[in-house]
Amino acid sequence: MAPTQDALYADIDLALSWSERDLPERERTKHVHRIHPYLGKFIPQLVEVLVERYFQPGQHVLDPFAGSGTTLAQALESGLDATGVDVAAFNCLLMQVKTRRYNPFVLERELRGAHARIGETSGERPNVYLRRWYAPQAARELLGFRSVVDDYEHADVLRVVVARAARSARRTTHFDLDFPREPQLEPYWCHKHRRECRPVETAAQFLRRYTLDTLARLKEFAHVRARGRAATVIHGDVRSEPLGRFDGVLTSPPYPGLIDYHEQHRYAYELLELDDRRELEVGAAAMGASRAALAAYSDGIVAALLNTKQSLRRGAPVLIVVNDRRDLYPEILARAGLNLEERLRRHVNRRTGRRAGEFFEDVLVARVR
Ligand SMILES: C[S@@+](CC[C@H](N)C(=O)[O-])C[C@H]1O[C@@H](n2cnc3c(N)ncnc32)[C@H](O)[C@@H]1O
Repeated sequence: MAPTQDALYADIDLALSWSERDLPERERTKHVHRIHPYLGKFIPQLVEVLVERYFQPGQHVLDPFAGSGTTLAQALESGLDATGVDVAAFNCLLMQVKTRRYNPFVLERELRGAHARIGETSGERPNVYLRRWYAPQAARELLGFRSVVDDYEHADVLRVVVARAARSARRTTHFDLDFPREPQLEPYWCHKHRRECRPVETAAQFLRRYTLDTLARLKEFAHVRARGRAATVIHGDVRSEPLGRFDGVLTSPPYPGLIDYHEQHRYAYELLELDDRRELEVGAAAMGASRAALAAYSDGIVAALLNTKQSLRRGAPVLIVVNDRRDLYPEILARAGLNLEERLRRHVNRRTGRRAGEFFEDVLVARVR
């Protein structure tokens, strides 16, 4: 007889439901995990526990929906090689910057050199997006810094600094940084700080702070990553991209109609002129969650898993972290030829501010048939 859904919940206590006290924010966002905000990531400690239980040091883990690269960075720290695929160019830039090996002397010299040039202007005219979302001085400072970036070997690190500063310098309220709808042009009552706040006028202070913070975070990561292990980043659609050989998969896929993975970093696409492939996102927020959208989503995840499976041997672990409130995954896994072995339930109870509330997610532990 097939096991019931409940019977699949593992009774082993993997202690995946950390409280704020067990796992404070600074631990969840240690070193490279906070070089740029990203809505919809999981935490490195979850990756750490799962990698320890289902993989061996020296193995190679694949994350087919790698996002900001949490799996990759933690895998390097846990002594594994890692490959991440993502369709969004900014996410790939972020992953590359987090996981690349740097010559520490060159990195330090370059970031300090660029830091000294913050405030230089380039005379470039801001485009429509920049004129709408930035005060004139902030736009000048961002464009000025962007124009010096290419003078450096580690231009990509500086591009991430440009993006992070651009996010903070938008004319928006402090409590609506994820998806602001309209520019905030006047002072406003700020729920976050419980006082009147003003929209930002300049970007130089963010450029300075984030250049030094990024340098410190990359140096910290260099001390904790395992020697001889490396990460590879593939920018593409995981349904069709050729992949290599891997020992298993650890991922959190997109969920239908929830997060627009390109739009959340719109400022980066505008400033860094990155390739926008949003029409290839599986479960794109713009498609909503209609019956047709859910069917297209399931087909997309099945296609991604079938392509991924070609890189795995029989019995290899496929770990999927998801809040499957529509119960789509049992069928998705069956169609992809994966056996659901157990479910580990995790209480994500640390959510703050406007996204407060009880929130659970599952780790689906499947194996290649
Ligand atoms: C839930 S997020 C992953 C977050 C990641 N676990 C982290 O910690 O940052 C899902 C990712 O899947 C990516 N994605 C969506 N459709 C894709 C496709 N067709 N091929 C590759 N990646 C895709 C999105 O761009 C997004 O970054």
